[in-house]
Amino acid sequence: LRVAVIGGGANGEHDVSLASAASAVEAMAPRHDVVPLTIGRDGRFEHGLARAAEAIEGCDVVLPLLHGPRGEDGTIAALADLAGVPLVGSGLAAGALAMDKHATKLVASAAGVATAPGSVVTAATSLPRPGHAAVVKPVAAGSSLGVTFVPVGGDLTAAVREALRHDSRVLVERAIEGREVDLAVLGRPDGSRYVAPALEIICPGVFDLDTKYDGTADFHVPAALAAGDLAVLEEAALATYDALGCAGLARVDFFLTTDGPVLNEVNTTPGFTAASQAPRMFAAAGLGYADLLDVLLDDALV
Ligand code: DAL
Ligand code: MG
Repeated sequence: LRVAVIGGGANGEHDVSLASAASAVEAMAPRHDVVPLTIGRDGRFEHGLARAAEAIEGCDVVLPLLHGPRGEDGTIAALADLAGVPLVGSGLAAGALAMDKHATKLVASAAGVATAPGSVVTAATSLPRPGHAAVVKPVAAGSSLGVTFVPVGGDLTAAVREALRHDSRVLVERAIEGREVDLAVLGRPDGSRYVAPALEIICPGVFDLDTKYDGTADFHVPAALAAGDLAVLEEAALATYDALGCAGLARVDFFLTTDGPVLNEVNTTPGFTAASQAPRMFAAAGLGYADLLDVLLDDALV
């Protein structure tokens, strides 16, 4: 197949995306004719949009490995759609909903999935005074960029200011205590969905921008979960995936609390190096990295 692989992007996950794209390009090179396309930090395609669009039109399928706003949020899905070229993964609507953590929570809670209580604030909003520890995060961002844990009585104003650097809307949520468990869902063209073995993140401190990529966090796959906990997690992951209208691969991240799973967020383009969570989960099920890529590509062509 002739595969356009898109990496980079105009947000703080630029380098994470380049790593995902480089990993995929290397794995696909022996099997496919790969056309790597890069979006710079300024948000523009290297060599311009017109040449990128032309390259995409000449490919059989587009594999977007962009994380974060202006990439994972449906923009590239729209471009592939307008170019009439099949795309791996979620379309415009699911990408946009999943990139917006507030919209994700509204959709997921309407589908019966528990989410952290909280509210959206902007630069013009007066701040809530939560009587509990809070997590402050940009509505749209990834890799924990702009996220601050604020203990009771902590500096909420500074945390909101930091989050506002990444987005004009900020979520102030009740901090959830629980085990961090990720579920990877693969939707197939026949409508069936497969949930890969769950992954638990074991991290000495907070799983944040640093510990996400510096190797201090351990991923346990399959996670050591009671059968009942795993069943409710899988059910919540599928309900969230379906309610958002995801396609192909999505990683649905939860906190497993004593009251059950609480949705953290959904990644329609999860980190995709061979060592990233979702590929590790499929590898644990016997589907290696290059084979997982082939499933995603083939499904996009159906
Ligand atoms: N947003 C990063 C890439 C992830 O969730 O894997
Ligand atoms: Mg994310």
